[in-house]
Amino acid sequence: MNLSTNLAGIPLKNPTILASGVMGVSTSSMKFVQENRAGAVTCKSIGHEERKGHHNPTVYSWGQGITNAVGLSNVGVDDGTVLLKEMIDALEIPVISSCFADTVDNLARVAEKLMASKPVAIELNLSCPNTENDFGLMFALDPEATTRAVSQVKKIAGNTKVFVKLTPDASNIVDVGKAAEAAGADALTATNTLSGMIIDIHTKRPILTNKFGGLSGPAIKPVSVRAVWNLYNAVKIPIIGTGGINTGEDAIEYIMAGATAVGIGSGVYYRGIDVFKKITDEMSAFMEKEGYKSIEEMRGIAHKS
Ligand SMILES: Cc1cc2nc3c(=O)[nH]c(=O)nc-3n(C[C@H](O)[C@H](O)[C@H](O)COP(=O)(O)O)c2cc1C
Repeated sequence: MNLSTNLAGIPLKNPTILASGVMGVSTSSMKFVQENRAGAVTCKSIGHEERKGHHNPTVYSWGQGITNAVGLSNVGVDDGTVLLKEMIDALEIPVISSCFADTVDNLARVAEKLMASKPVAIELNLSCPNTENDFGLMFALDPEATTRAVSQVKKIAGNTKVFVKLTPDASNIVDVGKAAEAAGADALTATNTLSGMIIDIHTKRPILTNKFGGLSGPAIKPVSVRAVWNLYNAVKIPIIGTGGINTGEDAIEYIMAGATAVGIGSGVYYRGIDVFKKITDEMSAFMEKEGYKSIEEMRGIAHKS
């Protein structure tokens, strides 16, 4: 079965991509992901300076998903660039680096340093507070802030593709996606985690130290599928559908909504590191049974019926 797909000019053997943040920036972990048949990997988001992140508990798995408030812990861009270069040299599959920052200028600075390692693409994690506005709102909640961030990074991106990761917390994710496209984004990732909170009724306190956290896993799948569906109708650039993908059927649902590739994060926790093998085998079995020969044939098909 042919599972290959072309993501903004980047050929992928299959549409599964490790989502950002789940396996850090470690070459040995990413090699393991590659051996388990991922089509590409995304590194943990890297910022300007080293950050330790929040104190534990930072991740909590509940009935229908996972809640995390890791706090963007990362090694900082100088060490991050070294790790990224080592990883790109060691891997055969495409490596997407990810970055975040508090201001547009800092975002462009971090992106420029990371690009020196020549990742195939840089994903802008715009789900972090933008300190240039009065409220410290996330960039990706605001089409104008998104435009500024993407335009600035595109100016220095050269041949590196720029992907923009959207938040399902936006009141209109389509407006943000359209702003990113108009500013030159090469692809959209939909979506990041959805804000949430879980309270332990025995201790009478929120479980995560940060109180709020990002929901991921099965709980958010319908929200992110809806985002992909709406974005597919509004933009021409490809979409990486992400959120709650645990099975081949989940991945196909996103592709039928219009995704070109799929991001898998919490699925690593639910089904193990071989989740990529399992998902691609399940996709092939579905396609065989239903008579589909390619990913392209299924892409956006739910819009036509
Ligand atoms: C523990 C954890 C850490 C994450 N860290 C990042 C990150 O550094 N940057 C980012 O853009 N997304 C991060 N994410 C979000 C995921 O990349 C993904 O968008 C989200 O979890 C939804 O996909 P899933 O349901 O397959 O996990 C993180 C998710 C989890 C669970």
